[in-house]
Amino acid sequence: MQTQTARSSAEAAVFPARVAIVGFGTVGRSVAKILASQADGPLRLTCVCNRDVARKHVDWLPSHVRWTEKFDDALAPDVDIVVELIGGLEPAGDLIRRALRAGKAVVTANKQLIAQHGAELLDLARTQDRSLLYEASVAGGLPIVRAIQEGLAGDRLYRIAGILNGTCNYILNRMETAGLPFADALAEAQALGFAEADPTADVDGHDAQAKLAILTTVGLQCRVRQSDIHRESIRPIEPIDFTYARRLDCTVRQVSWAERGPQRGPHARLPPVGPERGDPERSRGEPPTVFASVQPALVPLASPLAKVEGSQNLVTVCGEYGGETAFLGLGAGGDPTAVAVVSDLLSITRTGPMFVGPRLPVASGYQEVSADFSAPHYMRFTVADRPGIIASLATVLAQHGINIDAVLQLPGFPQTQLPFVMTLEACHVSVLDEALTVIRALPFHVKDPVTAPILIRAERLGGTTEGHS
Ligand SMILES: NC(=O)c1ccc[n+]([C@@H]2O[C@H](COP(=O)([O-])OP(=O)(O)OC[C@H]3O[C@@H](n4cnc5c(N)ncnc54)[C@H](OP(=O)(O)O)[C@@H]3O)[C@@H](O)[C@H]2O)c1
Repeated sequence: MQTQTARSSAEAAVFPARVAIVGFGTVGRSVAKILASQADGPLRLTCVCNRDVARKHVDWLPSHVRWTEKFDDALAPDVDIVVELIGGLEPAGDLIRRALRAGKAVVTANKQLIAQHGAELLDLARTQDRSLLYEASVAGGLPIVRAIQEGLAGDRLYRIAGILNGTCNYILNRMETAGLPFADALAEAQALGFAEADPTADVDGHDAQAKLAILTTVGLQCRVRQSDIHRESIRPIEPIDFTYARRLDCTVRQVSWAERGPQRGPHARLPPVGPERGDPERSRGEPPTVFASVQPALVPLASPLAKVEGSQNLVTVCGEYGGETAFLGLGAGGDPTAVAVVSDLLSITRTGPMFVGPRLPVASGYQEVSADFSAPHYMRFTVADRPGIIASLATVLAQHGINIDAVLQLPGFPQTQLPFVMTLEACHVSVLDEALTVIRALPFHVKDPVTAPILIRAERLGGTTEGHS
């Protein structure tokens, strides 16, 4: 049987590695640009593949580069590593499977594909003994996957939290600083190229949900289904929510968060939101192992989460031994994302094309995911004013064992459409949902109530070690 060392040197002998880029769009062009600028390095671009490739030709790549529309040409013998940058589930998945079976190492930036089929593709990569790297699929140029798998491999992570979608961040920033309604902030983001014509994936949380699914698998060692992660849109957020949030020394951000079961070790501590352990009265059935959610949340103005700007991403990870580590950087854009892709390519030139296993859970099944965490909550009501509204709400909340922390009502709004806020002491989301079902049926609402958890202890995020910035 061949030893790992003997195999490594034999495989490494084919390098410098010959690279095919499939998908010559925003990221593909940037990858090619970086490879062209590193002509003396260990990577050699041999093939560019794209549909209708004639319109993609550029004059700044070497003449030996083969331009093609056929995936088969990207799987030719003069290619060692295939870079998948076409996006979407198919034919990207089929291309990666074919590349692995043809003995190629693969690098991809495809978050939807890795989030939904990563386990299967990594199993195939392991079977074929070929690398499948996907650093660029999470948080663009922020090297979070490698940091977790290598730099923090000695720890046991129990929480990952952060801001994973720059489009939401831009929109919420503009609503906060310019007082723009959601629709205007979105239109501005679209005009500036920060949001797609169809913004659904970003503003409704699908994009962050996919990234969080990958981070949960990589960081918490739990295979989770993307669709099992609770997700809420930022669309119901209004400028008035920022006004009220500021009264609470907070702002509103789309926060992605995942946490697994009981913590051990010197830095273990309760999360800013999370399951209330040791509280049997609150316990509802068997506690699931993973809690995860993507949703608008109130975060303290002093926290790093409140200071993330534009397309920046912030990821904080908490380990039982190393405590909290924060990573801040550009989460999107051709060049930052291409840096992550090229870094994966360079990593393969160091290790050889064989499978270098990410620390994946042994179990092949998927972990149950819950969003029934306990946290203080913000509730904004918009009502046609009449006597007894607060009393009605207080009665329903009391019937569900939920304590009101404060009631805030700013002057200057019409009685026919009056916004006011209640903050609630920590309660389980499932209990609040039950109360909300009753509350929604009350006759005074002009708009659906808006709720968001308050991450009261989020100032701890990003605490002990500053990573990439
Ligand atoms: N852009 C970012 O900031 C960013 C950040 C992180 C991750 N990513 C990921 O990186 C990947 C690429 O994103 P991108 O922004 O570069 O996308 P893009 O600009 O739309 O580029 C995709 C390229 O692939 C080509 N393509 C699409 N389907 C194809 C097919 N079936 N056969 C051959 N070529 C095909 C497209 O050709 P046409 O010109 O004909 O459409 C286009 O040139 C995606 O998975 C994305 O999620 C992007």
